[in-house]
Amino acid sequence: MRQITTVGVIGLGTMGAGIVEVFARGGLEVVGVETTEELAQRGRGILQASTDRAVAKGRLDEAGQSEILGRVTITTRMEDLAPADLVVEAVPEVMDLKHQVFSTLDGIVAQDAVLASNTSSLSITAIAAGTAHPERVVGMHFFNPAPVLKLVEVITTVRTEDSVRDGVVELSGRIGKRPVVVADRAGFVANYLLFGYFVSALRMLEQGHVSREDLDTAMRVGAGLPMGPCTLMDLVGLDVCHHIGDVIYAHSRSPMHAPSAMLERMVTAGLLGRKSGAGFYTYAKPGSGQVVPDTDDGSAPATAAVSAVGVVGSGEIANELVSRLRDGGYAVTQVSDPQDTEELRGLADVGVVVEAHQIEAARSLDEEETGSAPAPVPGQELWEVLGEICGPATVLTTVNEDLAVAVGALSGRPEKAAVLRIHAPTGNGQAVEIGRSSATDDATVAALRALVTSIGAEPVVCRDRPGLVVDALLMPHLMDAVRMLDEGYAGVADIDTALQHGLGYPVGPFAMIDQIGAEEVLTVCEELTEAGGLPRESVEPSPLLIEHVLLDRPFTG
Ligand SMILES: NC(=O)c1ccc[n+]([C@@H]2O[C@H](COP(=O)([O-])OP(=O)(O)OC[C@H]3O[C@@H](n4cnc5c(N)ncnc54)[C@H](O)[C@@H]3O)[C@@H](O)[C@H]2O)c1
Repeated sequence: MRQITTVGVIGLGTMGAGIVEVFARGGLEVVGVETTEELAQRGRGILQASTDRAVAKGRLDEAGQSEILGRVTITTRMEDLAPADLVVEAVPEVMDLKHQVFSTLDGIVAQDAVLASNTSSLSITAIAAGTAHPERVVGMHFFNPAPVLKLVEVITTVRTEDSVRDGVVELSGRIGKRPVVVADRAGFVANYLLFGYFVSALRMLEQGHVSREDLDTAMRVGAGLPMGPCTLMDLVGLDVCHHIGDVIYAHSRSPMHAPSAMLERMVTAGLLGRKSGAGFYTYAKPGSGQVVPDTDDGSAPATAAVSAVGVVGSGEIANELVSRLRDGGYAVTQVSDPQDTEELRGLADVGVVVEAHQIEAARSLDEEETGSAPAPVPGQELWEVLGEICGPATVLTTVNEDLAVAVGALSGRPEKAAVLRIHAPTGNGQAVEIGRSSATDDATVAALRALVTSIGAEPVVCRDRPGLVVDALLMPHLMDAVRMLDEGYAGVADIDTALQHGLGYPVGPFAMIDQIGAEEVLTVCEELTEAGGLPRESVEPSPLLIEHVLLDRPFTG
């Protein structure tokens, strides 16, 4: 295969214009093709504006900018692609259009030139089958925005020649991208994993489990992802999500990918996300990323201000809560021993009681070996006692594994009970989930939102269901990556690279599993499987994960 020095890009829309820039910055001669003079000008304008921004930010000097622009020819004539060693098509996602473009190219480019498709969801094999030389056809899947995201999925078919694959991989590296080579399968690596997660998120929204804002906060702050699923789906376009989701479901037939009726309704109603000005959120205007309030936004429910809080427990978590709540402006009464009814009477007038004892009791089992006595585990008596002692408006909550409904039933005040799940901080902050039962009232939720905010964390309110939001979405997502590895579709490094450099994750799923601890991931997945509620195939631990736990072998490093 010949050395790639001149490339063509067909279609200068969202993706094509960015791909032109990537190639030109990488030192290649680029010929960009559009259908009309006007669209060709728009394509050149996008390139000019993007490089202008780089100059303004000091990332590029003016001489560098003119060199880049000087390497690009924009045209409306397909014949101008004759000298290209590689042509990437980025025309709309319609098979007939792709076939038409590639068969025209067959008559224009040299016989050993490579033909690449940037398709997200069409079969590369089917595209190749419609060309004169399927052995030179490959997928070259860039991610949006192409100049920013480094991933390029290089998709080979059973007909693709090795030299074609190697040439595209070499070129991808030369232009500063991170290539991942995979076989032709719906969704490839990144979208396949992303869309399973989207479907789970859509199910949660559809079931009224959590609001769009709290769902986004959960995954951005609690899981550390660059943005939440609603924001991301609005950015991708709900019609595109709907289409790619269908393609993946047609391939997998797994309930994990079952099309969302809500998404279909939204697309039918013209809610396409940012591009139409409204999707999960409403935007200032079509194409804008500025979220504006919905017209039917109600005001926050009125709540009696809470100034005094009780914390039950004396371990590390309880102590940290006490100090953060004091810093947050609350008067805090701490009760170390949950069995000391006299001490508990001191909580009669507080607005919120946070039980943070049981976790410390579990931790103190280690201390037992070192000589100190294990703390007693508060059983149902604690809630019964607190139900009798505390005033009727006192909110009762716990950071341990109790259910909100159990706390409510035992204390005799179901409307005042909820659970808290404190997450470890991520690069985006710290999230605390507030799980409510069907009886929990809005004033209770409002009081807990204020409390969580006061300790410098971001609240996520949801129904108290297994895994709340963060674990219920993140664990199946991680398990899906392990299953992909187990199926032999892609390796650990490929999958981690795909999600880190294609979706902007701080680290890939396997690095995440190793950070959390494979054993912990296994335990949570087993608990979620046992609890039910989520599709079993999504949370059931993969045999490969179990092997890694038993062998005490990390996935990465
Ligand atoms: N948008 C994304 O986030 C994204 C990400 C990765 C891959 N993709 C894939 O990239 C491809 C393009 O998507 P897009 O979002 O850039 O679409 P787009 O609609 O923004 O741009 C497509 C461009 O192709 C032009 N075009 C149509 N027919 C043409 C022809 N015969 N010759 C030359 N130009 C022609 C159109 O005028 C338009 O400007 C699709 O296959 C899509 O699946 C999109």
